[in-house]
Amino acid sequence: MEEDLSGKVAIVTGGATLLGAAVVEALVAAGARTMVADIDEAGGARCVASLEGRALFHPTDVTRDAGIADVVRVTMERFGRIDYLVNAAACYADHGPDSPRTDWARSFDVNVFGAAGMIRACRPHMAAQGGGSVVNVTSVSASVAQGGRWVYPATKAALEQLTRNAALDLAGEGIRVNAVALGWTWSAPIAAMAGGDRAKANAIAAPFHMTGRVGNPDEVAEAIRFLLSSRASLITGTTLAVDGGYLALGPEGRSGAAT
Ligand SMILES: NC(=O)c1ccc[n+]([C@@H]2O[C@H](COP(=O)([O-])OP(=O)(O)OC[C@H]3O[C@@H](n4cnc5c(N)ncnc54)[C@H](O)[C@@H]3O)[C@@H](O)[C@H]2O)c1
Repeated sequence: MEEDLSGKVAIVTGGATLLGAAVVEALVAAGARTMVADIDEAGGARCVASLEGRALFHPTDVTRDAGIADVVRVTMERFGRIDYLVNAAACYADHGPDSPRTDWARSFDVNVFGAAGMIRACRPHMAAQGGGSVVNVTSVSASVAQGGRWVYPATKAALEQLTRNAALDLAGEGIRVNAVALGWTWSAPIAAMAGGDRAKANAIAAPFHMTGRVGNPDEVAEAIRFLLSSRASLITGTTLAVDGGYLALGPEGRSGAAT
């Protein structure tokens, strides 16, 4: 049985999109009141529409310190505390070897500096309550070479290192910091790539995921909810692969060279 998160409060950046919304729904279903922080105002409104005040949306640009301070202030005003932070907002700007400086600057600003800024702003509130929990959303891209991608993987690798350092520095305040490294997950970008065709996305993903398919947003949400909860009380400073076996698969692929 899942842990009851009643009385807890979460902030989810990037919560307006398909994947982030699944995290919001999972947290609300477990009883946590949740603030969705995203630049996408239409998507944010859609995400919280059916959640009857148990989730609120606050338009937030995580590249702006004033915006970060604002969403934290509003969360405290509306919900009175902050227990959980999920850093899922992301920028995919990446032109591989031809990436202009603007790709590097924008992607690091959202994916790394934004996450660090959110942790910094939530920390005093978590510490004052005796603890909290952070999950940073990273990617298999942080750990392997993928052709034509230089920027996004570097941001996710940086976010995994930030996860370790933050976990160390905040452990004394009862704050745990972990990451989830996702494989291909049914989401807005994957749906766009596959023309909205889930079977096509599964077929493309099959050779490099042991499970032979893309992940479901609710499977990712379940892992994040667990890491946030006190059931994961001994887990901090680590990256959990939630990737259908992508990172464990060797160069021989799913069938093996000897077969
Ligand atoms: N989709 C996948 O297969 C996959 C794989 C690995 C990791 N991920 C990670 O999952 C998370 C969700 O990604 P997604 O694939 O659903 O992408 P997405 O583009 O649909 O979602 C990203 C969200 O971040 C928001 N955002 C962008 N810039 C922002 C800013 N400056 N301030 C606040 N919000 C901002 C966007 O509006 C959007 O709602 C990301 O961290 C991504 O790196 C996804």
